[in-house]
Amino acid sequence: RTLYTLTRPVFLIGFMGAGKTTMARRLARECGLICADTDRCMERKYGMSAKELYEQAGEEGFRQMEAETLEEFVQGEPRIIACGGGIVMGERSREIIRTCGFAVYVHVTADESAERISNHDSRPFFHSMESVRSVNQVRVPLYEELADVTVDSSSRTSGRMAYEVKDIL
Ligand code: S3P
Repeated sequence: RTLYTLTRPVFLIGFMGAGKTTMARRLARECGLICADTDRCMERKYGMSAKELYEQAGEEGFRQMEAETLEEFVQGEPRIIACGGGIVMGERSREIIRTCGFAVYVHVTADESAERISNHDSRPFFHSMESVRSVNQVRVPLYEELADVTVDSSSRTSGRMAYEVKDIL
């Protein structure tokens, strides 16, 4: 295990089910870094699941909470940050990601995403394959625009991706 020092936070962005959370944990463990997760942080703070929060606060409220969470993260020691899949829909969050750190786009296709998340109904958008596809279509250009580097999650475990990204930190 090598100890790394980050000069800037690393944001893991990408669609639901890409493996951002697992990857953040792996990277942090293997590199001796702190990891954080916007969903988990908000869940702890507000005492409900991300899905419940989304349903209660609405998309706009949820995006605002995400931006506040990111702001707190970037003020602290640089860390690996797993971002909620829809964080790129928030203008303030995009600005923070663009200006404050290094963004890794963890790519997953809409079909694969749907397959991975279909087992549990923990995401707000999983009503139909059509809704997953259309939400994905809007977001892909935003992920691409912010990405400093892209890793493809198809036929790769989160551990494998973490290993690849470790080399470019
Ligand atoms: C969302 C993705 C989820 C979570 C919330 C909304 C989205 O995060 O933030 O349910 O808008 O795509 P994951 O990408 O970790 O599933």
